[in-house]
Amino acid sequence: MDSVDELAQDARNAGAEVGLAGDTIVIRGGKPLRGEVSAGGAKNLATKAMVAALLGESPSILQDVPAISDVQIVSRMLEAYGVAVTSPEDGVLVLDPANVVRAHFAQIDALAGSSRIPILFCGPLLHRLGEALIPDLGGCRIGDRPIDFHLDALRAMGAIVDKSYEGIRITAPDGLTGANIELPFPSVGATEQVLLSAVRARGVTELKNAAIEPEIMDLIAVLQKMGAIIWTEADRTIFIEGVDTLTGYTHRSLFDRNEAASWACAALVTRGDIFVKGARQQELMTFLNVFRKVGGAFDVREDGIRFWHPGGSLNAVQVETDVHPGFMTDWQQPLVVVLTQAEGTSIVHETVYENRFGFTDALVEMGADIVVHQDGLASVTRRVPRRKLEQAAVITGPTPLHGADVRVPDLRGGFSYLIAALAADATSRVSNLGLISRGYEHFVDKLAALGADFDIED
Ligand code: EPZ
Repeated sequence: MDSVDELAQDARNAGAEVGLAGDTIVIRGGKPLRGEVSAGGAKNLATKAMVAALLGESPSILQDVPAISDVQIVSRMLEAYGVAVTSPEDGVLVLDPANVVRAHFAQIDALAGSSRIPILFCGPLLHRLGEALIPDLGGCRIGDRPIDFHLDALRAMGAIVDKSYEGIRITAPDGLTGANIELPFPSVGATEQVLLSAVRARGVTELKNAAIEPEIMDLIAVLQKMGAIIWTEADRTIFIEGVDTLTGYTHRSLFDRNEAASWACAALVTRGDIFVKGARQQELMTFLNVFRKVGGAFDVREDGIRFWHPGGSLNAVQVETDVHPGFMTDWQQPLVVVLTQAEGTSIVHETVYENRFGFTDALVEMGADIVVHQDGLASVTRRVPRRKLEQAAVITGPTPLHGADVRVPDLRGGFSYLIAALAADATSRVSNLGLISRGYEHFVDKLAALGADFDIED
């Protein structure tokens, strides 16, 4: 299969996991989106909290679990390892790790094709079984996405890493021990790797240059409920004191910041008005500042945030993606669509991934004026010094968006196509729709609730 077919197959598989009726959406754009949607639980917390359940001696209960295909994939992986996964009601998972067993490599490999989560099973599996087999990793196609930080951290804790043609076999004959680790970059996944591995290691682990995203702080809350001892210092250092046993947890997932920001951008670019129930100011502060500078209006309420277009024109801005508390790399895609409608020239620097502007090609096809500079731009207004990984997109607006026939390339790029099509003055077809269900729950129902005009086709 070539990569176009593979992507289409991934999209169909992901869509099938959540019962999506078809893999193409035909959108008749130009209507403001208005109404209320609920932000689901955070994909990037829920999937990790599910893995953490493997560490417990008793069942865990996770609430506000989003209905997305990534959650389905992690459920199946946990089941492959003998964890009983049940859902007594929508949005709730009970994860019982009483009978953890070795999984068949082929089974994990088949599941892993579309997810990057397997790497996070290492620590829990080493503690439970003394061995972890990690197949080739998937996830979104947004660059190389290596796992060297993960493997180096595991080695520092005493793990032995063997690479084979099947994937990676990790063992810890003497168990894991606490270590002093400094990450070369505050990687979200590598920080989670260390947390999930060090909580039951012998001794104290000191993790310098850790990521401190809200989803990580929520994972720390989960682990603390399980009996872990973890504290963080202001300079991004996390300390983990290993304990002998952990129990199950009961936890309600944080809301999805990426979903909330995506609906906010949808409201602004369609000149609409959306109340995102469950969105919280604290975790969105950096996004809200940019939203306001672009010219969007918002009102923070007790139970969510209302986002709307207050009339008039939108303003060009300069934004740089960064680790928390900076502007998230997952927010730039919907923002770029908004910036196609702002007056003047905006610049978005991507400093987290090396290749995350591929999605802009289709926006250009729709009429946007976007030029991507693969090696970044020298600019006097840069807030952080140049990093090795850096692309810049220069967006000049406003340009009307027209209908087009486009294929979703990845999760966040895909949602940005939906909102571009909703803002366009004609009909668009967006295929590979299933990829969006990896991270946006019930998005088709939510679009309908907001008054979008569309049909789903196979
Ligand atoms: C998480 O990916 C999220 N995924 C991503 O969301 C998100 O964009 C990213 O964090 C940044 O916030 C999940 O939580 C499942 P990283 P992760 O390790 O953990 C480099 C979405 O759409 N790196 O922080 O994989 C890496 O290549 C997804 O929801 C190494 O070089 O991200 C990248 O340039 C997409 N070696 C940078 O670090 C490593 O071993 C940040 O990656 C690990 C990472």
